Amino acid sequence: MMKTALVLNGPNLNLLGTREPQVYGSQTLADVEHLCRQACSQHGLALDFRQSNHEGVLVDWIQEAGRAQKDGTLAGVILNAGAYTHTSVALHDAIKGAGVTLIELHISNVHAREAFRHHSYISPAARAVMAGFGVQGYPLAIQALASF
Ligand code: DQA
Repeated sequence: MMKTALVLNGPNLNLLGTREPQVYGSQTLADVEHLCRQACSQHGLALDFRQSNHEGVLVDWIQEAGRAQKDGTLAGVILNAGAYTHTSVALHDAIKGAGVTLIELHISNVHAREAFRHHSYISPAARAVMAGFGVQGYPLAIQALASF
């Protein structure tokens, strides 16, 4: 049976393409979904692609992912938590509590930006961390997830 890659996008990523294009590029979230769909079909995965501006919704989705991974239907999660990366103990606890395989992803190189972006609550709970590959990071992360 084909496993699913769950790609979760947090706050403001719905604005991709128009939001600070010098930092995040001009491709939209729909373009990113298309890149992910292509990568999943290349690597034998199904895609579930979501975005929310709400922290608790992301917590719910990570808990759901933990159950799906235990059922054997989910390969893992790719999470771009946006600014919640730098603030959310709740997301850290959700990832740990769900026991889910998760790749933390950032479009920009957060370490080359403001100091408040240098700390991540996600990283200690993540299997791997990616930053600075632009939107091409998404298909790279799917390739990695397929190889875990
Ligand atoms: C981001 C980096 C975060 O610092 C920022 O708050 C975002 C996007 C990225 O993809 O580069 O919203 O996660």
